[in-house]
Amino acid sequence: MADQASINVIPNNAFAVTVRNVRHYTDRLFAFTCERPPSFRFRSGEFVMIGLLGGERPLMRAYSIASPAWDEELAFYSIKVADGPLTSRLQHIQAGDQILIGRKPTGTLVLDALKPGRRLFLLSTGTGIAPFASLIRDPDTYERFSEVVLTHTCRTAAELAYGEEIIAAAKSDPLVGEAASAQLRHITSLTREPHRLEGRITDLIESGALFDALNGERLDPAGDRIMICGSSAMLADLKALALARHFAEGAVSDPGDFVIERAFVDK
Ligand code: A2P
Repeated sequence: MADQASINVIPNNAFAVTVRNVRHYTDRLFAFTCERPPSFRFRSGEFVMIGLLGGERPLMRAYSIASPAWDEELAFYSIKVADGPLTSRLQHIQAGDQILIGRKPTGTLVLDALKPGRRLFLLSTGTGIAPFASLIRDPDTYERFSEVVLTHTCRTAAELAYGEEIIAAAKSDPLVGEAASAQLRHITSLTREPHRLEGRITDLIESGALFDALNGERLDPAGDRIMICGSSAMLADLKALALARHFAEGAVSDPGDFVIERAFVDK
C-alpha cells in the first residue's frame, strides 16, 4: 500500500496542473493545453518534462512547449504510441485531468542561441513543429528576423493540419498577427502522398526546390539562421547539411548560425 500511495505524490521537481483542452488530429497525433503555474517561466522554443500520476512509477518525458513565453496557458503537441510508456496513457487525457509539468524548462531552440541574421529557417518534421508553434507567436522572432520561413514535412496531408492551424493562429494573433502576416512563410511538403511540394526537407534544400518555392536565395550563413526539430535521423542529416554549408552550430552560451533539438517523446 505504501508503494501504491507514493506514486500519487507530486514529485518535488514537478507541478500538477489541470488539462484544459485536448484535440485529436489523426490516430497518431494529438494536441493539448493546460493551465500554467504562475511561477512557471520559460523561453519560447524550450521543452519541459511532462508526466502522469498513478502509473507503476512516475514517468516523465521531454516535450517542447508549443505556446509562446507570454501565454497564460501551456500547449503541447504529441504523437501517440500504442505501447509507448507515457503516450499510451497520455493520449487518453481529458479536460479536467491532472498532469505533471517539470519545474525546469530548458533547450537550445531559443532565439538567444542564434547570432543576428536576416532570414530565419524553422525546419520541422512531424511533431517537431511544436517549438516553432511557440516561436512564431513570439514578437521577438519578428523583431530579430525580417523573414521567417517555417517548413513542415510530414508523411500525409492529414498530418499537416496542426501546422496550418498554428500558422493561422499566429497571423490572427492580436500581438504578432501583423508581423506574422508580413514576415512569416509556411512551406509544407509530403513524402507519402501527392502534394504541391513533395520530398524530404533535406532533398528540397539540396535540389533547390525549397528556395524556388520561396522565390528566394539559397542558404547562406552570411544572413540565414536555422533551427531544426524532428526525428534523430532528420536532425543528423540536416546538421550535416548545415555544416557542409559552413553554418556553425550555436548554443545559448555561444550563439551560432544553427541549432538543433528534439522533444524526446516515445519513439
Ligand atoms: P519519409 O516518409 O521519407 O520517411 P516520421 O513521421 O517518421 O517522424 O516522419 C516525418 C517526416 O520526416 C516524413 O515525411 C519523413 O519522410 C521525414 N524524414 C524521415 N527521416 C528523415 C531524414 N533523415 N531527413 C529528412 N526527413 C526525414
